[in-house]
Amino acid sequence: MKLCLIGYGNVGYGFVRVLLRHGLWLRERFGFAPKIVAVHDIRRGTVLAPEGLDLEALAAAWVENRDLSELGKSGAGLDAFAVIQECGADAVLELTPTDLRTGEPAAGHIRLALTAKKHVVTTNKGPVALFGKELLSLAKENGVQFRFEGTVMAGTPLFSLVDFALAAPVRRVRGILNGTTNFILTQMETGKSYAEALAEAQRLGYAETDPTADVEGFDALAKIVILANMVLGGDLHPSDVPCQGITKLPSSEVQRAPKEGFRWKLVVEARRTQDEVEAKVGPERLPLSDPLAQVGGVLNALSLELDPLGAVTIVGPGAGPEVTGHAVLSDLLAIHRGLR
Ligand SMILES: NC(=O)c1ccc[n+]([C@@H]2O[C@H](COP(=O)([O-])OP(=O)(O)OC[C@H]3O[C@@H](n4cnc5c(N)ncnc54)[C@H](OP(=O)(O)O)[C@@H]3O)[C@@H](O)[C@H]2O)c1
Repeated sequence: MKLCLIGYGNVGYGFVRVLLRHGLWLRERFGFAPKIVAVHDIRRGTVLAPEGLDLEALAAAWVENRDLSELGKSGAGLDAFAVIQECGADAVLELTPTDLRTGEPAAGHIRLALTAKKHVVTTNKGPVALFGKELLSLAKENGVQFRFEGTVMAGTPLFSLVDFALAAPVRRVRGILNGTTNFILTQMETGKSYAEALAEAQRLGYAETDPTADVEGFDALAKIVILANMVLGGDLHPSDVPCQGITKLPSSEVQRAPKEGFRWKLVVEARRTQDEVEAKVGPERLPLSDPLAQVGGVLNALSLELDPLGAVTIVGPGAGPEVTGHAVLSDLLAIHRGLR
């Protein structure tokens, strides 16, 4: 399988590192030996290499912040659209930054790649939250796959569980899908103010300098819209979903709750009612007996409810370059194995 990476930032680098570590095992176990034939990144440059790039050299170029064009045929002057058209890849990895308002430029990259009959794997929430069903239909029309495991819970398998292991429709999902706010709430419980807990999250690299998308709940909102539409079959736009973050939650309340047998969490939920799917995001005071109340720090968790299993809860990391790179690799492996 020949791959083209659009966006070579933290996740792209994480993907290359995971491939370097597990490449031999993937080849022996599944006969899967992907080659990276093109990389285009707005900051790091563009390289085309029909024979496949040396992965060690590609990883080193990231660490040393070198222009990618040194690694093969320079693609200087080509934009992402031209690279997708000219690279000769079987699959495009769309790993550019998320824009939750427009989904662009990723949505355009994905449409072009699918129309050109290339599989697409993305970790970018924007296009999936806004146009997920349209992109899935486009993939189907063109006889290729569109996979997005890394958009929710990063490398913790969720969509592959739903797609390949469940034999009944999911009725409801409920979970903690933002590690940054979960870390902040866990810190606040130990006596820190919101500002102190946020500063600690920023110091450890869990929160961005501008933490709005996390603390106001927008990141969790995008994820629950993806689940509502792609798992429960809804047709929601993010603006349809009530969303509240954690900024208005008094730390005195977060600290008092455990003494009374409760714990505050930023909870997302989507459920299928009689004839529609509804979703919400907001802080909830959960009894300590709730499995979600036991999920601390940056971990994510999701309970899926279906007949006859009841609730199945998965807990795992929800972010990180290599963890998300693993999601990309797992999607590619599913495509290689012909799983749909
Ligand atoms: N990191 C995680 O743990 C994680 C987890 C789940 C999902 N994701 C999602 O995965 C995607 C990639 O995340 P990341 O952490 O790798 O982000 P990142 O480190 O910011 O990398 C994105 C790279 O793409 C480049 N870029 C921006 N616009 C581009 C364009 N139009 N064409 C080509 N390259 C472009 C960026 O350059 P500039 O820096 O110059 O803009 C940057 O080098 C995002 O959508 C993110 O939300 C990330």
